[in-house]
Amino acid sequence: MPQHDVLIIGAGLAGQRAALAAAENGATVAIMSKVHPVRSHSVAAAGGINAAISVDDDWRSHAYDTVKGSDFLGDQDAIEVMCSEAPGEVMNLEHIGVTFHRNDKGEMDLRAFGGASMKRTAYVADITGQAMLHVLYEQLMKHHETVERFEEWFTTSLILDESGACAGVIARDVRSGRMEAFTAKNVILACGGAGQAYKPTTNGLIVTGDGIAMAYRVGSPLMDMEMVQYHPTCLVETGMLITEGARGEGAHLLNVNGERFMEKAAPNKMELASRDVVSRAEQIEINEGRGVGPDGAGIYLDVTVVPRKRTLEALREIVNLGRDFAGVDITREPIMIRPGQHYIMGGVKTDVDGCTPIEGLYAAGEVACVSVHGGNRLGANSLLDTLIFGRRAGEHAAARAASMGLPRVDTNAQLRQDMELIDTIIARPRDGRRVSEIKNELGEAMNRHAAVFRDEQGLGNALETVHRLREETGKAWIDDRGTVFNQDVLGALELGFMIDCAEATVVAALERKESRGAQYRTDFPERNDEEWLKHIDITLEDGQPQVSYSPVTFTQWQPEVRKY
Ligand code: FUM
Repeated sequence: MPQHDVLIIGAGLAGQRAALAAAENGATVAIMSKVHPVRSHSVAAAGGINAAISVDDDWRSHAYDTVKGSDFLGDQDAIEVMCSEAPGEVMNLEHIGVTFHRNDKGEMDLRAFGGASMKRTAYVADITGQAMLHVLYEQLMKHHETVERFEEWFTTSLILDESGACAGVIARDVRSGRMEAFTAKNVILACGGAGQAYKPTTNGLIVTGDGIAMAYRVGSPLMDMEMVQYHPTCLVETGMLITEGARGEGAHLLNVNGERFMEKAAPNKMELASRDVVSRAEQIEINEGRGVGPDGAGIYLDVTVVPRKRTLEALREIVNLGRDFAGVDITREPIMIRPGQHYIMGGVKTDVDGCTPIEGLYAAGEVACVSVHGGNRLGANSLLDTLIFGRRAGEHAAARAASMGLPRVDTNAQLRQDMELIDTIIARPRDGRRVSEIKNELGEAMNRHAAVFRDEQGLGNALETVHRLREETGKAWIDDRGTVFNQDVLGALELGFMIDCAEATVVAALERKESRGAQYRTDFPERNDEEWLKHIDITLEDGQPQVSYSPVTFTQWQPEVRKY
């Protein structure tokens, strides 16, 4: 049975950064991912990474912008950690080989991004996540003696020992179907968010809430799950991301009358207000009949105002996306976009070292909720979150491992249980619904009722739907009865994870009877600090989500009216 000091689930930026930190701190490490590491969803992160690098900048200004962006729900101690450590982390990336864009003076260039009071976003054209991921993967290979890679291994569940500490995982080799128990002194979940619970979403097909659900199922609380980010610029048909970098470079948003409607919603920051504000403003234009396109369901993003040379150099990926997926040359004509699900601010509740309340269980990156994003994440703060808290979790886990022996745990019962579940799914008669049908219905229901605007009735409908779909998932059938690369059966497991995440989101959204950040309740349109300046925690007890609250941590910034 494989045994390690630190076992990391997920090999995107948070996972790889955690692996490097743990290895550098003397731990034996395993990093496990259901896909090849450079296909992790971090590869899709486009516009950049925030850090107060400029001589005119200060990490406190970055922290204040983040606090304000979070609609004062972010924990300020964690935000201070993230923003103060950002410049060092970004410079480290530069030193290990990330080819950040440089200006004419040869200095690292910074672009404008939403909700930021100055240019603070370092970037590699609009493929920043991909550039970072490849460099970290190279670094990881340098540590091949201490970091073992389990690529294309799907984690099915977490193992707890008799004391309730996390002691490993059960996983399935995707290539062969072989199931195995892995024990470890520490497990770090770094396997991303749950965007596929929505349809459409900017998130890759692999982003199915696995880590969130696995932690939740062993009793780890989830926090801020109601806070789901809709990115303002997604392609209307497919939901694909058109980077905020476009607006950072100066692109305009226009309604059917050719008006820059952001003048009404955010006269100072215009298109570069925070994402929740811009997405809501767009949705209002669409809902009130000022949208563009055949059914008025879009908004124009006009990149033609950016010099063509600059677009081709700094936004080249969205030039390709526009051409290939919308038939539009964005250097010559506006492209139709709309708000689309992009990110979840909530996740597995952790402290600033990635520790969950379960001994030996850590989380970092989108799977986690530290909470540095609170009600709304600023663009380009997520790459930063993955690196800072990935590194901190790796360091903490390595130190913890140094002071303990390997866990003694009997993994047989759980291994058998997970194998039996998979066998049962494969053997199901074809008289229920297909997994893919249920997944579609889930995504569409969440996108209808738990989106930019919400109310009690819609959320109630979403909850009923999620409950029915949970029942149906228990009988859902698949086509593939084989063992080799059986993605079908893994899809059934992923659907179960997404249902858990969706339920927690809807329960928390129903609970929060106010509007803050990404949660806009049309039946409670005001922010209500008196009653709701607190986190909502969701814990699984006897199979049911239980709601409790935890305080927001304040250090330097008191809540104020939020205007852009
Ligand atoms: O628009 C973007 O480039 C996305 C960045 C982010 O979500 O941080």
